[in-house]
Amino acid sequence: MSIKAVIFDLDGVIVSTDNYHYRAWKKISDEEGIYFDRKINERLRGVSRMESLDIILEKANREYSQEEKNSFAERKNSLYRNLLEELTQNDILPGVMRVLEILKKNDIKVAIGSSSKNTEFILRKIGLHEYFDAISDGTQIKNSKPDPEVFLVAAKKLCIEPRDCLVVEDADAGVEAGLAGGMKVLAVGYASRNRKANLRMESLEQFKYEDMITV
Ligand code: BG6
Ligand code: MG
Repeated sequence: MSIKAVIFDLDGVIVSTDNYHYRAWKKISDEEGIYFDRKINERLRGVSRMESLDIILEKANREYSQEEKNSFAERKNSLYRNLLEELTQNDILPGVMRVLEILKKNDIKVAIGSSSKNTEFILRKIGLHEYFDAISDGTQIKNSKPDPEVFLVAAKKLCIEPRDCLVVEDADAGVEAGLAGGMKVLAVGYASRNRKANLRMESLEQFKYEDMITV
């Protein structure tokens, strides 16, 4: 058994913020007259805020200056933060607390590896800001997923070798990032059809400790 730490993505793994991201981007895109739908929203999974904006602007009929882009992203984030005010412990995804308890019981370290700059705010809203042994997020990295940086920072903070870490991800970009970092990957939710992952399941409700030992 080599897994000594599990690094969880946040959005879509610990808590379902997808719809809040969607609603905020949709409102700003509508105001700007830019076409945006749920299919495009799927491409934003795991991708940083500014890179998400670049994807949205593919449908714009004019170029946006850097200043306009910054203002677009700021407006989206302030709407998103307002929506996040509604978050409570009830928004923790099914199976998550059970998995965290199993890992703690077995002395496996737990960390967060998220592209989001709102990570701390979200963890506070759901009451888990003191639960993790390390937090690595969008405020601490230069390169976002599929670059492995966010997970390598988490492993370093935990003092655990990447090869002894299991990443839990719902985004294809995050699955790529975990593998690129030399880690094992458990894909859940949207990414559960990604065959590159070492383990796959629809939801953490299906997690069994034995699966992790044999990965
Ligand atoms: C990721 C989400 O966790 O964080 C992406 O999957 C999001 O959709 C990214 O764009 C950045 O989030 P934030 O909160 O910094 O805008
Ligand atoms: Mg995610």
